[in-house]
Amino acid sequence: MTNKSDKNFPYEIKELTPDENEEIRNLRKAKALDFVRIGPKGYFLTKRYAEEAANIYNFPIKNDDIFVVSYPKSGTTWTQELVWLLQNNLDYEKAKSVMLNDRFPFLEITIFDEADAVRESAGKMQNDGISDLVNAMLPLTVDQIKELPSPRFIKTHLPMSLLPPNMLDTAKVVYIARDPRDVVVSFYHHHKLMKIISPDTGFKQDLDLFIQNKILWTPYFDHVMEAWQKRNHPNMLFLFYEELSKDLSASIRRVAKFLGKEISDEQVTTLREHLKFDNFKNNASVNMEHLKDVGIFQKNEAFVRKGKVGGWRDYFDDEMTAKADKWIADNIRDTDFRFPHF
Ligand code: A3P
Repeated sequence: MTNKSDKNFPYEIKELTPDENEEIRNLRKAKALDFVRIGPKGYFLTKRYAEEAANIYNFPIKNDDIFVVSYPKSGTTWTQELVWLLQNNLDYEKAKSVMLNDRFPFLEITIFDEADAVRESAGKMQNDGISDLVNAMLPLTVDQIKELPSPRFIKTHLPMSLLPPNMLDTAKVVYIARDPRDVVVSFYHHHKLMKIISPDTGFKQDLDLFIQNKILWTPYFDHVMEAWQKRNHPNMLFLFYEELSKDLSASIRRVAKFLGKEISDEQVTTLREHLKFDNFKNNASVNMEHLKDVGIFQKNEAFVRKGKVGGWRDYFDDEMTAKADKWIADNIRDTDFRFPHF
């Protein structure tokens, strides 16, 4: 079935056939999710996204908004914390005491069943004396995010074409990209982390689903390329995870410059320490460990997991490596896009 879009949303929204939908649901163990494909690139999203698509596309942008945009598992959280601290006069006290999700909400969180699951857990826990935590993790709706006081900090995994067309001319956008081989490994672990999805069908299959654009927010290369093409826009900063990983101080300075912030060498050092993997992993404000306590995350996985460049090598056999190499080469051949570490 095809829904022709209304005048507020320019793309066609196609539901999957019942067989296709069932196949992916079974593979992902996402029993309750229905999927759609959006527009000419066929972005793979949930039916609940389709209900919010026009609302998101027409989200009123303010000129002091800051967006962090990425394909999932590309270092979004790391970038959010960096951006938020630079833009908030390095207020470490607030960064530690207010959860990142609260400071920097996720625009399309309500398109997932997880959002309902969190609400449900929160409801059950209302009387358990941890309501502060519960309140802090309640997902905001798109309409609630609209009403947040300025300056607003907003995370999204949607590609540029599904976001408001005036976003880049009005607000600042930081896009972060990462080697898709590390992305797919990280996403595999993320799916295992999420109790309600939790696939145990093996990494090999996840790689195939990723390459076949059957994982949320794919196609990966269209997502990255849409931002890459805008990388020289004065309001766009295009980062690579591998650059942050190689030289975090230089990346901090680059982001500070983009945001128009002065930063001393000493402040760079302190911020670098704060953002360092081991410290990040133990930082309750960003590591999402509380979602284990409420039964959303598995105990034996971690959101801030390994933080390595090239960790994919431990997961790919020769055949998978060749397949991924070809897929990457085919996608970047006729473009000027190159990963910094290739
Ligand atoms: P791995 O699963 O490979 O470890 P996102 O925030 O977009 O979901 O990205 C998550 C990935 O970023 C995870 O990758 C996570 O470990 C990594 N990451 C988070 N914080 C990091 C940090 N401070 N340094 C390096 N990597 C970090």
